[in-house]
Amino acid sequence: MTNYESFIRGLPKAELHMHIEGSLEPRMMFDLAARNGLKLRWGSPSELQAAYQFTNLQSFLDLYYEGCRVLIHEQDFYDVTAAYLRRAKQDGVIRAELLIGPQSFTTRGVGIETVMNGVLRAIEDARHDLAISSGLIVTAQRHRTEADAMLLLDQIMPWSDRILGIGMGGAEVGNPPSKFVNFFRACRDRGFRITIHAGEEGPASYVREAVELLRVDRIDHGNSCLADPELVAEIVRRKLALTVCPLSNLRLKGVPSLEQHPLRALINAGLHVTVNSDDPSYFGGYVSENLIECQRALDLSLNDVVDLARNGFTAAFISPDERDKALASIDSYVAAFRM
Ligand code: ADE
Ligand code: ZN
Repeated sequence: MTNYESFIRGLPKAELHMHIEGSLEPRMMFDLAARNGLKLRWGSPSELQAAYQFTNLQSFLDLYYEGCRVLIHEQDFYDVTAAYLRRAKQDGVIRAELLIGPQSFTTRGVGIETVMNGVLRAIEDARHDLAISSGLIVTAQRHRTEADAMLLLDQIMPWSDRILGIGMGGAEVGNPPSKFVNFFRACRDRGFRITIHAGEEGPASYVREAVELLRVDRIDHGNSCLADPELVAEIVRRKLALTVCPLSNLRLKGVPSLEQHPLRALINAGLHVTVNSDDPSYFGGYVSENLIECQRALDLSLNDVVDLARNGFTAAFISPDERDKALASIDSYVAAFRM
């Protein structure tokens, strides 16, 4: 292990953008399929893994939604969430904000309470058993209608005090933020923080809509904002963080190589950038691998890496007290680490 690698693995980190469904490892997908009496179209976990050759976001989403079929019972949602949190703990993550998109399940007849109770119980157990702080962001799918999103909002209200915020994922191009103005207004009116995937495959104008029309609290991805310098200035002025996912962008062909990833340009533009794994099982890396590979490819300095980790905590939906303790833990770690 290089010095940078061991430094990054041990560095206290926040992960603000990961989809629980995207942390379903091939082995677990097979185990859950067997437990639930389902047959997968791949012969083995390694055959499934070999199918992870994506050409764009939609080619990934097709497989990701297919994988979601194995999650049926409350214990399934518990197990996949608990497995991610155990892995995150080993990875030096002390704060995790997890996304889940219940419509993949509820539209197939799985009860909303099955999804919510399984995930929230794993989050609560991890707080006790692993001392990892985590919370849940419920996402709506943008290829569905605004009425579908509103229905989801109504369904999750019984758990509203245990939800960090509402987000949105799915096929971006053709489904701009403006399609969901009323939905996000309703989320805000009900007291939720809001985030949306924007500028992953979509143009800068989608990021602008997220900022100006939806008035989001955080932007998931945001890469394409760089094409609009005035928008960049506005995002900086509003102190909005971007949850950037470099290995995801690489695997979904948003960038031709990590060397050409806009992470450095986003940082240089003064944006509040965080690094995250998105769907770690599908994209070949958890948050540490994202940081390690970016450090190598973009020749990030120790200060760059520490700033990225600090940004994770300043952008997290946590109390000032939790934030200050996390930042202090980074300071102590850096002071004690011998490069
Ligand atoms: N859902 C899971 N991963 C996603 C991504 N990278 N973009 C949009 N929606 C997603
Ligand atoms: Zn995502």
